[in-house]
Amino acid sequence: KTIIKKTSVDNIDMDTINQAGEIIRQGGLVAFPTETVYGLGADALNEEAAAKIYAAKGRPSDNPLIAHIADLEMLKPLVEEIPPVAEKLMDAFWPGPMTLIFNKSNLVPKGTTGGLDTVAVRYPNHPIAQALIKAAGVSIAAPSANLSGKPSPTLGEHVIDDMDGRIDMIIDGGMVGMGLESTIIDVTVNPPMILRPGFITYEMVKEIVPDATEDRTIFTKPTKEFKPKAPGMKYRHYAPSADYTIYKGDEVKVAEKIIELANEKADEGKITGIITADQHLHMYQGRLNKSIKVVSLGDLEKPETVANHLFKALRDFDKVDTEFIFGEAFSEKNVGQAIMNRLTKAAGYNIIDV
Ligand code: TXA
Ligand code: MG
Repeated sequence: KTIIKKTSVDNIDMDTINQAGEIIRQGGLVAFPTETVYGLGADALNEEAAAKIYAAKGRPSDNPLIAHIADLEMLKPLVEEIPPVAEKLMDAFWPGPMTLIFNKSNLVPKGTTGGLDTVAVRYPNHPIAQALIKAAGVSIAAPSANLSGKPSPTLGEHVIDDMDGRIDMIIDGGMVGMGLESTIIDVTVNPPMILRPGFITYEMVKEIVPDATEDRTIFTKPTKEFKPKAPGMKYRHYAPSADYTIYKGDEVKVAEKIIELANEKADEGKITGIITADQHLHMYQGRLNKSIKVVSLGDLEKPETVANHLFKALRDFDKVDTEFIFGEAFSEKNVGQAIMNRLTKAAGYNIIDV
């Protein structure tokens, strides 16, 4: 049976944290909030505990886990060396939504790294995550706390939906701060390469490391020749059960197209949804079959609101068994890059230029 405990960020219940820390030390699994998404944690140095994570998520065992630390001292035993460029990025962005890939030390089992000689490390900036890692006294391997292939959890109830009965404990700390997973940067290569975009944008990284590059598969569909460098990025991800297509181009033309196609499906009796933004809601008003579920991800002037609602929206479409989703494309500027990266994957690269 899964122990479910609520605790708030402003008033952390230390009994809950200590109990969770003990579970981790004993080789068990605890889901906990971070500033990006919820994580599903186990002792990063315990191969058997890591194996339980893969089982609980239904995750392919070649997809490595991120080790979470709560101070810089915890990094040294995990890695072979800390390149100067990593020090610069750590100074700029840790604690925070950035994961760095290092050459791993012998201490880190391959059961945690999906068989790789490298290890991903993140120092989260979330008081519950930090308190848990400190209470456990070990670094915590944690993927996002969703079933493999589902959208990452941004609310405690998402974790409960996916993990109740599968793990030892869930710490429900309410809504996460950002709603998109961390930016992953490989610092084992020179220049460093961004493998997954996030709230720490390419522009922000280039201010610290001007020659940083990006994995080309961030936007293009992976092929045999160009496989994503982060093994997890190759799987169909964040996917709602619905057939989801993104329409890109002039905003009025896009809305017209979506109205036409969504009405067609709804008139056939299909459960149909639309993904839009606050500024565009008016274009759909009074023009749609009443059964169509129209969801705004947020304010285009504040892309962080869009990031915050994205995974919840995809989950909510699943809850009502949506069969078709017609969605607008979003700007790819700054954090928009991470937003479109996740939406593109959720849509299975189904993007149509209008
Ligand atoms: O924000 C986040 O990063 C969240 C929270 C819980 O910290 N975690 C998260 O973990 O998103 P996960 O497992 O869902 O995604 C980790 C990604 C996967 O795409 C994985 O393939 C990649 O990181 N990764 C992990 N270790 C790697 C390594 N050694 N080399 C390349 N990619 C790696
Ligand atoms: Mg994940």
